[in-house]
Amino acid sequence: MIKSKLVSLRPIELSDDIVLQQLINNPLISENVVGWTFPVSLFSQKSWIQSNANNLSYRLVVVDNATNEAIGITGLWDIDWHNQSALSAIKLLPAYKGKGIGTEVVMLTMAWAFYNVGLRRLHSTILDFNGPSLGLYIKKCGWRVEGRQYEAIFRKGEWHDLYSVAILKREFDALSAASEFINTVCPVDTTPNIDINFQDYI
Ligand SMILES: CC(C)(COP(=O)(O)OP(=O)(O)OC[C@H]1O[C@@H](n2cnc3c(N)ncnc32)[C@H](O)[C@@H]1OP(=O)(O)O)[C@@H](O)C(=O)NCCC(=O)NCCS
Repeated sequence: MIKSKLVSLRPIELSDDIVLQQLINNPLISENVVGWTFPVSLFSQKSWIQSNANNLSYRLVVVDNATNEAIGITGLWDIDWHNQSALSAIKLLPAYKGKGIGTEVVMLTMAWAFYNVGLRRLHSTILDFNGPSLGLYIKKCGWRVEGRQYEAIFRKGEWHDLYSVAILKREFDALSAASEFINTVCPVDTTPNIDINFQDYI
């Protein structure tokens, strides 16, 4: 369990079926994200949770600390161990938008990915009309726009551009709030402080 002030991040449980179904079927969420799917039944959602053993992706449920309710999802997708990079993404239930929760989740996810998992680059894509997501990743969390895929995504009968965004570990380290989130994810003091003369024990 990764816990900060507003939220905790934890693995998916079988009991998360309803919230995961809401996160995939609610058009206020699905219209803002890149993937597309037919509506997902509760039966399919339950089966997906049970068969979700793909170790190149690792999803985390976002929990509201105030209520202990599951309110979203984040994590790492398509982990490339050789190049130490992964795709990261976030979805929150609409009632939780605009309260700074997204910023806390992205900062926590970066600290976890860079200081616990061992990655050095995170990337994602954002639709050209998704102001809250661009504001969150670019303005609040230090990500850069690396490119623009023209007319790549079909939404509301029209074609939309897709921004490719990314951040490197060293860019995360330069953020003023980084150390707070690193200490939250890795709470053990790893400065060597051992009162033993090793020569006596060789
Ligand atoms: C995107 C999402 C995670 C943002 O979460 P959130 O908790 O609202 O984010 P935060 O409040 O921490 O930060 C968003 C920032 O973007 C800013 N913002 C909002 N709309 C904006 C716009 N149109 N243009 C620029 N910035 C904008 C906000 O003002 C806020 O900055 P501030 O704290 O300085 O005011 C959430 O809206 C969501 O889950 N949306 C649906 C799924 C989705 O779009 N996922 C991302 C796919 S790439």
